[in-house]
Amino acid sequence: MSDQGVRSWIRDARHIAVLTGAGMSAESGVPTFRDAQTGLWAQFNPQDLATEEAFRAHPQRVWDWYQFRRDLVREVQPNAGHYALAAFAQRHPGRMSLITQNVDGLHQRAGHVGAIALHGSLLQDRWLDAQQACCSVEALEDGHPPRCPVCGNLRRPAVVWFGEHLPPEALAAAEAAVQACDLMLVIGTSGVVYPAAGLALGAHQRGARVVVINPEPTELDPVADRVLRERAAQCLLSLLED
Ligand code: APR
Repeated sequence: MSDQGVRSWIRDARHIAVLTGAGMSAESGVPTFRDAQTGLWAQFNPQDLATEEAFRAHPQRVWDWYQFRRDLVREVQPNAGHYALAAFAQRHPGRMSLITQNVDGLHQRAGHVGAIALHGSLLQDRWLDAQQACCSVEALEDGHPPRCPVCGNLRRPAVVWFGEHLPPEALAAAEAAVQACDLMLVIGTSGVVYPAAGLALGAHQRGARVVVINPEPTELDPVADRVLRERAAQCLLSLLED
């Protein structure tokens, strides 16, 4: 059942900011971040792998974990929810900003143009020590992770690790979207990781309506004007059809 009230908020909104988290990709088959790790990785806590400290201490282990996750997301497809958001944004140019905490690239693969990737991209690498100037990607020495044969600088996944700052342009774009919105949809995020979760609080404080879409309770439920206890894909399909 679609929620008529939320549908009318969507229809009437001047600007809609959408904040997505791991639950957005759950129906594509990407496990959420706080789900139990499977197989080989079950013994590790993601919070102990997704840090610069962990990477410097155990570069091969952390690199291999990212390779495992990269292989996983390459095998899956965007779901109906990713497509519904992309289609809505295309039908309503300038009326929707999409802010995602996901690094899986599925919004982009669904054709969503201009998605704000707050936590970077799983599918790209960058230098670990960005200030080390000698490195050229062409000369990379194969390995887990690849390294510069001259200075030893390592490639690392271009994601934001725990304890790191968000890319300033992405954060500025997300904050601008929060300023502009009168409706925010918070989809598939537990709302525990900041500053991402703070964007929803900011929207609420500025008087925007906040709608949480999540089958489970979240930290952001208290600021929500409506909570839809539903899974993202089906819910978005019915909410976003014209
Ligand atoms: N539809 C909607 N929500 C779902 C679905 C679904 N089909 N399946 C699960 N969820 C919800 C869960 O109930 C949970 O609230 O998705 C949420 C996933 O929460 P987390 O795993 O904590 O993911 P997220 O909120 O995106 O984490 C934020 O933390 O670990 C860091 O950088 C990482 O981007 C990540 C950030």
